[in-house]
Amino acid sequence: MTSRIVAVLNQKGGVGKTTTTVNLAHALARMGRKVTVIDFDPQCHLAVALGVVSKQQSGIDEVMLGNADFAGQQIPVRDNLNLIVAGPRLQEIEQLSDSASRRGDLLRKALAQGTGDRDLVLIDCPPSSGILVANALFAAEELLVPMTSDYLALQGLSHLMGTIKKFEAALNKKYRLLIVMSRFIPTRRLSRDVLHTVKKYFPAQILATPIRETASLAECPSFGKTVFEYRPGWRSARDFEALADDFLTGRVM
Ligand SMILES: Nc1ncnc2c1ncn2[C@@H]1O[C@H](COP(=O)(O)OP(=O)(O)OP(=O)(O)O)[C@@H](O)[C@H]1O
Ligand SMILES: [Mg+2]
Repeated sequence: MTSRIVAVLNQKGGVGKTTTTVNLAHALARMGRKVTVIDFDPQCHLAVALGVVSKQQSGIDEVMLGNADFAGQQIPVRDNLNLIVAGPRLQEIEQLSDSASRRGDLLRKALAQGTGDRDLVLIDCPPSSGILVANALFAAEELLVPMTSDYLALQGLSHLMGTIKKFEAALNKKYRLLIVMSRFIPTRRLSRDVLHTVKKYFPAQILATPIRETASLAECPSFGKTVFEYRPGWRSARDFEALADDFLTGRVM
């Protein structure tokens, strides 16, 4: 069986990559999909958001360095949902400049060895465009780009699309690319204007449900809970349920 490998990326910080990864993954797991999330950010925010705090435990770092395999590094964190933590050496992989660690295909090679019974693997990328993001772009066939609706995010998006096009040309592949409108404030005119512009440039590539800005989503990580645990049935839980459905059925704006 082959897993869908999805990189959640945007080089801009704070746009909702980790929030999207955690809550979309949990929504999909609750729908019966077998999902593994990879914390691909040395800040370890994904693990924290899922309530896993040990920074010493090895994770995707040792998988990339060839010392551990994907299957063995998974930690079951919820029903149907496994986590692979970043691991203390992920930072080194980002920083070291010897030729082996500069290679962009460590993650792709590691995942090519097999991802077991997983339907989906979601990679929560760091806010950069360095070697880790290059590894995610080598490994993934699908890209999920969370995007906030402000002017600078729009600028950032065009930069990101340029990077993605370069990878497509160099790797001779074409990604399935979907945008998630995150931290959306429906009552704000700028939000609607930015959405209008994104729609114009990326027709049929924005998932149908925007994730609204809410206090509960901002509070979740401090409790190590997903929105389905922290505020079941509330607005943001419903947003993520709808988003998961959009993602599975390909429903776009
Ligand atoms: N829809 C939302 N409503 C309210 N707060 C949100 C929402 N989405 C994200 N946040 C909050 O905004 C901050 C940044 O979100 P998040 O960590 O998901 O972004 P990120 O893109 O992963 O950031 P980084 O680039 O640092 O990895 C966090 O404090 C998070 O709790
Ligand atoms: Mg993050």
